[in-house]
Amino acid sequence: MPQLIIAGLGIQDLNQMTLESIEALKAADQVLYLGTQFDRHSSLLSLYGVRSITNIFSLYEAGTIDDANYVRIYEHVVAVAQANQLTVLLVPGHPRIGVTLVQRLESSAPIALRILAGISSFDTLINDLGRDPLEYGSIVIDANRALLFNKLWDASLDCYLYHVCSVGTRKVHVHDAQKDNDWSHLKKHLLKIYSPESIACLVSSSMTNASEPTNRSAALSDLEQLLPFVHFGTTLFIQAQRPKQLNREFYLRLAGDL
Ligand SMILES: C[S@@+](CC[C@H](N)C(=O)[O-])C[C@H]1O[C@@H](n2cnc3c(N)ncnc32)[C@H](O)[C@@H]1O
Repeated sequence: MPQLIIAGLGIQDLNQMTLESIEALKAADQVLYLGTQFDRHSSLLSLYGVRSITNIFSLYEAGTIDDANYVRIYEHVVAVAQANQLTVLLVPGHPRIGVTLVQRLESSAPIALRILAGISSFDTLINDLGRDPLEYGSIVIDANRALLFNKLWDASLDCYLYHVCSVGTRKVHVHDAQKDNDWSHLKKHLLKIYSPESIACLVSSSMTNASEPTNRSAALSDLEQLLPFVHFGTTLFIQAQRPKQLNREFYLRLAGDL
C-alpha cells in the first residue's frame, strides 16, 4: 500500500533534520519539498541519497487566499503519493506546528500516513531567547486565533505569538508581509492583556548556516515600529511579567518539605 511520510526540515538549513527523517528520505521513491530554500537544499539532499525530488513550493501562489493554495498542494501530494510506494513530504520546522496541510492530509488523505517529529521554530526560539518554557509557563498561540476567539491570557506567562505575518487576512503575501497585515487590531488586543510599556520582541531564528538570529524590541504602545521587520520567519515574543498572586497555602506546603 502506498505510504506518505511527512518529515520536518528543521529551521536552520538542514542542520536540524533528524536521522529518522534522513533514513526516510533514502528509502523514498519520491520526495516533495515544501520549504522555501530549494536552491540551497536540493544538492545537499541529493548527497543524502535522495533519488527524486520536486520543489512543490511553486504551487504556492503569493498574494492569493491561503486555503486555495493548500487545496492545490493537497491534491498534488495525494496524487504523487498514490502513484508511488513511498513518498516523503518535507515541510519547514516540525510538521505538527502551524502546517494546516498536515492536518488536512491526516484527516482526509486516502493513503497510509506517518508523521515524523522535527525541530521546530519553537525549539530554536527558546534556545535563542534562553528561555525554559516551563519556568514561567508559556502560551504558544496563532495571532488570528487569539483575535478571532478574543483569547486573553495571563501576562505572567511567556507568550509566543505565531503568524504575525498575516493578521486579519486570508491572503499570504510571501514577499511583503506588511501588506494587508492588520497590526492595529493586534495591538488593540494585546493592550487588553498588557500595559502599553510592556516590551514585545520580534524574533527570527537563523534560517541559514551563515546568519544570526534577530531580535527587535518595542514597547507595545509603539508596536507598529516592528511591522517593517515582519516576515514569514518571525514570531512575536512577550516575556512573562511578575505574577500577581501566590497560593500561600501551597507555598507553605512546599516550604514544609524543605
Ligand atoms: C506556517 S508556520 C510553520 C512553522 C514550522 N512548521 C515550525 O515548526 O516552526 C510559520 C510560523 O512559524 C514561525 N517561524 C517560522 N520560522 C521561524 C523562525 N526562523 N524564527 C521565528 N519564528 C519562525 C513564525 O511565527 C511563522 O509565522
